Parts: sequence; structure tokens; C-alpha cells
Amino acid sequence: MKFFLDTGNVEEIKRIVKLGLVDGVTTNPSLIAKEGRDFKQVIQEICGIVSGPVSAEVISLDVDGMLKEAHDIAKWAPNVVIKLPMTEAGLEATHRLAQEGIKTNVTLIFSAAQGLMAAKAGATFISPFVGRLDDIGIEGMELIRNLRMMLDMYDLPAEIIAASIRNIGHVEQAALSGAHIATIPGSLLPTLWKHPLTDIGIERFLKDWEKMSKA
Ligand code: E4P
Repeated sequence: MKFFLDTGNVEEIKRIVKLGLVDGVTTNPSLIAKEGRDFKQVIQEICGIVSGPVSAEVISLDVDGMLKEAHDIAKWAPNVVIKLPMTEAGLEATHRLAQEGIKTNVTLIFSAAQGLMAAKAGATFISPFVGRLDDIGIEGMELIRNLRMMLDMYDLPAEIIAASIRNIGHVEQAALSGAHIATIPGSLLPTLWKHPLTDIGIERFLKDWEKMSKA
């Protein structure tokens, strides 16, 4: 399973990349706005740090606008991926970009039908939002399981990015449910390698070691 970092924060990426855990990065307009920096500069810096796919989202809602933005963004770095919303215009733009060999990530997917449409249109990645579904009382992970079954059943090459990941359980369940990738907020990732019993264990080992050296 691959892990993407869901952040626009360059320092966070630099720190976590050292652990060998980062296969790519996803951003969205909210994450970029949080950084208060130039969009192109942020994406180019991230693309320079991470060799895997880096998603940069268009903000246009019409096909021509999406394609214009996509063609511009695609020139920023070789590993940039165009993120498009799951709309009729988004599907057309996805299809056109796929024909040109430009990689896409169709975002804001909340149903298996939407995921299937995006994969069929030629998306490289599809991003179902697990946490936002859970927020409205629908089990987000069921969507991951259903999408994986559909992609396998019909040999569709799109990869599922489990997005809107909020906790450790989401990451574990995304892995078990067949997501190819989980995109994880930089603030959440450190909690994945932490466990209170590990900390207690280290403390005990060191105390015993000290006792021995004092004896
Ligand atoms: C990633 O592609 C999504 O934009 C992101 O995971 C959304 O997460 P949120 O629902 O926590 O905003």
C-alpha cells in the first residue's frame, strides 16, 4: 500500500519524507490557502522533494477553464497530477487529459457510481472521501471496498486514494479494504507510528539499564 501526504506544508513534507513513508502528495485549494503562499511555487517545491505523484487541483468549473489550468499546471513539474472535481465538466476534462497522456486525480467522490464514472473516463486516481461520509453517518469504508471490487471486476486501471482520512482506524481499514493509497494529513501521520506501550517499554528498559550501570 502507498501513502500520500495530504498537505501543502513543505516543511512537514521534508520532515516525513526522511522516514521513507511518502509515495506522493495531495493538495486541495483549502490546504494551499492555509499556507498563504503562491500555488505554483508550493507545488514546484513539493514536486522537487517528492518523486512520486503530487496532486494540484484546478479551480475552474467549466471544461475549457479546467483544461487551460491543467495544461499550465502540467508544465510545472514532471510528477504533477491534475486534480479535478467529480462533475460532468470534470469527467470531460479527465477524459481529454487522459487522451493527451496527462495524469489526473478525480476528487470529491462520495458514491461508487461516481468512482466508476471517473475510472471509466480515464482517471489515473480516484479520491473517495471517507471521513466526510462518516461525518454524515454513511460508512465511508464501504465505498472503498465497493470501488476496489468494481475496478478489479472490470479491469479498470485507476488507483483508489482513500481521502479525508481522520484517524488511525481509517488508515488501517483503508489498507484492509483494498485502497491502493491512503492520503494522510501530516498532523495525523506521526500518530501511526506512536503507541503508549512503546513509550512505557522504552522508559522501563532505560530504567533497568541505569540500575545495572549503577550496581
Ligand atoms: C485529498 O485529496 C482531499 O482533498 C482531503 O483528503 C480532504 O480531507 P478533509 O475532508 O479532511 O478536508
